Amino acid sequence: MQEELKAILAGVRETVPNIQSRAEFESFKATISGPKGTLTNAMKGMGKVPKEDKPAIGKLINEAKTAINAEFETVLERLEAAEIAAKLGPAIDPTLPGPDLNRGALHPIAQVREEMVNLFRRIGFSVAEATEVETEHYCFDALNIPSDHPARDMQDSYYLPDALEVSNVSKHADEKYLLRTHTSTVQIRTMLQQQPPVRIVAPGRCFRRDTPDATHSANFHQIEGLYVDKHVTLLDLKATLDHFVKTIFGPKAKTRLRPSFFPFTEPSFEMDFYSPDLGKLSNKWLEIMGCGMVDPEVFKAVGIDPDSYTGYAFGMGIERIAMILQGVDDIRYYYQNDVRFLKQFA
Ligand code: PHE
Repeated sequence: MQEELKAILAGVRETVPNIQSRAEFESFKATISGPKGTLTNAMKGMGKVPKEDKPAIGKLINEAKTAINAEFETVLERLEAAEIAAKLGPAIDPTLPGPDLNRGALHPIAQVREEMVNLFRRIGFSVAEATEVETEHYCFDALNIPSDHPARDMQDSYYLPDALEVSNVSKHADEKYLLRTHTSTVQIRTMLQQQPPVRIVAPGRCFRRDTPDATHSANFHQIEGLYVDKHVTLLDLKATLDHFVKTIFGPKAKTRLRPSFFPFTEPSFEMDFYSPDLGKLSNKWLEIMGCGMVDPEVFKAVGIDPDSYTGYAFGMGIERIAMILQGVDDIRYYYQNDVRFLKQFA
């Protein structure tokens, strides 16, 4: 009996490594432990074993059974691993380069935004941000914008439904939420958080109910600048804008301030520039931003003493600058995500 069991186990050990499928495994297993299998037969032989030998032989059979089952387990594990590997397909080497070597790039608007922000960072400005959903207070009242100003009209700005609650923007019960129409909101939120000196640029998304055309988009981007300290003068503003324009549009670029009006600056200006290095747009005065000295009413709204502090503010559309720099003549190209357009700036 012992010899018989040994032979069965040796046969199993010899065959098992060559089994390639579950079907093959099942039919082989049947020849061992099936109703007519060799192991089953050997166990049937137990009946003829003399009583006194039964414990020893029983032990041998159990040992053989355990060893054979262990062999079977190994085959099953191997077959299962092969099945999973077949499902996964060939092994992947994550260190190989991707199939498209034209890797992604920043969107052209983001490129110009980064260039502008970095320029201001180098001269001491830090970057401030605030929410795109705003209250009338931050978008208008605190900026000295009167209640009959056209920007407050439903036709000009995107107001949100009265019932809406925006958990991270608090508002008075009689106010409305709207999508910010300019980044000047960040002036207010920053001055409420920070005592002068304040020197920030605030890049961000703005929304106006414009009918889209080549130069207007209902959603666009601005960069706001604000500098508040003791003795800040118009000369500081002019010098900063000169530096900005020369860095962005070429060293020969010049600026010009034209009197204008904004409720939150006094005096207020439109800043024009021209540059001889701009191709088709060379040597033409181009208007690119609004600016001025912070109106004392704005300082009062944020609790800064207008007798001790002065400041300047400016705001401009990033798309406008990008269109000039990149020679793009229709703002809508920026939002269509057409790779043929985007690739030109990668
Ligand atoms: N907020 C103004 C606009 O959107 C721009 C501006 C900013 C003007 C700061 C003056 C000072 O048109």
